[in-house]
Amino acid sequence: MQAQKKGTLAVLTGGGDCPGLNAVIRAVVKTAIHHGFEIYGISNGFHGLINGDMKLMDLSDVSGILPRGGTILGTTNRDNPFKYMVGQDDAGNPIYEDKRDVVVKNLKDRKIDCLIVIGGDGSLKIAYDLHRYCDVNVVGVPKTIDNDLPCTERTFGFDTAMAMATEALDRLHTTAESHHRVMVLEVMGRYAGWIALHSGIAGGADVILIPEIPYDLEAVIRKIRERQQHGKKFSIITVAEGAKPIGGQMTVARLVKGSFEPVRLGGVGEKLAREIEDRTGIESRCTVLGYLQRGGSPTAYDRVLSTRYGAAAVEACLDEEYNVMVSLQANEIVRVPIAKAASQPHQVPVDSDIIRTAREVGVSFGDEEPAGDTSDTRK
Ligand code: F6P
Repeated sequence: MQAQKKGTLAVLTGGGDCPGLNAVIRAVVKTAIHHGFEIYGISNGFHGLINGDMKLMDLSDVSGILPRGGTILGTTNRDNPFKYMVGQDDAGNPIYEDKRDVVVKNLKDRKIDCLIVIGGDGSLKIAYDLHRYCDVNVVGVPKTIDNDLPCTERTFGFDTAMAMATEALDRLHTTAESHHRVMVLEVMGRYAGWIALHSGIAGGADVILIPEIPYDLEAVIRKIRERQQHGKKFSIITVAEGAKPIGGQMTVARLVKGSFEPVRLGGVGEKLAREIEDRTGIESRCTVLGYLQRGGSPTAYDRVLSTRYGAAAVEACLDEEYNVMVSLQANEIVRVPIAKAASQPHQVPVDSDIIRTAREVGVSFGDEEPAGDTSDTRK
């Protein structure tokens, strides 16, 4: 028997696509219907919310989507309702309009009690602003391959990205070994090194470079030479797109007009490979893994986490506990205030046990002093 109608919800996916989005949507729709909610699916993130592009979903809409990559709702990492780009002036500068009233009207017209936002920091920040400035009820679901959101131990999508990067490293190993080369793998992650760190450890990288630990090229080269002295004629480097040399800057690939966060990183891997080859004479190559980390089917871990998050988001609505983000803490799904979830990005703590473990098994983070250095004042 169908439960009595509880209310009306809406769900959107915002920001970059991410493995597990469809699994969350499926869990949201199934749980909502199970508890007697009506549920709207909003097309293309906040763009659809601004333009009223949404439709009621039923179970047939989510049938068969659990393992599928991408998002059946579509997404965009532009279209902030508070700063919506409506065109460009003669000089090519974007012209923005505030669309918050349109958003509120679109939600009110459909009697939507709560908006479930599946997104990363940009989308969750907008969700928080809708709550605090427009009194819209929101529930956030932490999405990103970068794993850089505060207040949660894991975002969904990270496990899949890490698995892809690890497989890439396994494959690069065989070429590196056969050709006696240095192989650099550049991975995503924005200003956090989680993907590089975890895949680097899982894939047996010799050097891992992350934004949290600026590197010294000399230390990287020392590690490569040290391996050569031990008969290892090849080396594997995992570099996060946000890694930077000591005293230097991150490498910016492009600026995207109208985006929540216009800076797009990329290019550090190629630079590094060139510098290493020029300095050592060892043939060095760079592979940029790019969007392969985001596309395709989620791992079993991400499917389970996404399903738990999706169901938990609807449970929060059932309890009328709004303006929270569902989060993973000590392997339990909990709720944290959206205000906290939309705060500073979560970077790798440089004194964490995982960094220590990597160092203990011989990984270089490009920050070591030369052997025999006596400048350590602790001695
Ligand atoms: O946040 C996910 C992510 O893939 C980052 O790792 C990367 O820096 C960025 O998005 C790329 O964004 P875009 O899809 O706009 O190129």
